[in-house]
Amino acid sequence: MRVYSSDQVHTSIDRAIWVSGIGEANLVRIPVAGRFRAMQTAALEAAIVTDRENGMLPAGIIASVGGTSTGGTDDVAAVGAVAKRHGLYLHVDAAWAGSAMICPEFRHFWAGAEHADSIVFNPHKWLGAQFDCSMQFVRQPEDLVRTLAIKPEFLRTHGRDGVINYSEWSVPLGRRFRALKLWFLLRAHGLENLRTMIRNHVAWSESLAARLAREPDFEIVTEPMLSLLSFRHLTAAGIDSDKHNLRLVSAINDDGRIYLTQTRVDGQVAIRFQVGQFETTAADVDTAFEVITEIARGLS
Ligand SMILES: Cc1ncc(COP(=O)(O)O)c(C=O)c1O
Repeated sequence: MRVYSSDQVHTSIDRAIWVSGIGEANLVRIPVAGRFRAMQTAALEAAIVTDRENGMLPAGIIASVGGTSTGGTDDVAAVGAVAKRHGLYLHVDAAWAGSAMICPEFRHFWAGAEHADSIVFNPHKWLGAQFDCSMQFVRQPEDLVRTLAIKPEFLRTHGRDGVINYSEWSVPLGRRFRALKLWFLLRAHGLENLRTMIRNHVAWSESLAARLAREPDFEIVTEPMLSLLSFRHLTAAGIDSDKHNLRLVSAINDDGRIYLTQTRVDGQVAIRFQVGQFETTAADVDTAFEVITEIARGLS
């Protein structure tokens, strides 16, 4: 059995593959291209066709919308068309970026998501919901019920009197009432205020990217995908860029005014910057600019 994704998906996909017992060799990584490191759909289709010819069983595709490293985003509509042509399940992982889809102007990032079989996003990541609160939308809950329902006599209530037994939709039987957090979030802040927060974060990240790009000793490695970008401090000849930028991340985090993490883009270290906290202000992002430039220039 084979599952297809780009190399931009979160490691939770690798873990799901381990747990499912499919075997990690059967998670097929499709090469990416373009600003958002999207799966190349021609390569995806070719891999599916070749696997079938070789007796494999293509089962599903995982599309990324806002990958953790640099916001890698697939063309969900194009990937969905491939899934449909080959009768494969399509899951969309929008764990982080999904929160931005409350703003109509950002929905182009997952155009075609309406054709997915399932979508996940985590309102605890960027919408301000208390940890933990992950949302999964499923097209056909019956698939889950067929796979997971265990019906001892004392639980034989599914479908009776219109009762939906969510315990039959997931591995754990018991669950907390997480939807209540969303209800309170919406009641407390209102949809428009949540949209304003997301829009501010995106605008502030874009302005930080523009400011860093104007500095001669910085380069933007990946342009903002919503509020996530990556950059690098340029080093003099003979100084190892990876070591220097790793030192810079450590120095920034030791300083304690802001916190950043690193990633690798095409094998080279880049520093990730993302605005995502409920309380962040434009002034905080100005501070971030000061901290980054000041500490970078102070590194010997
Ligand atoms: C893109 C992406 N997918 C999946 C996950 C994992 O989500 P969960 O904690 O719900 O397993 C994360 C981060 O935690 C993520 O950033």
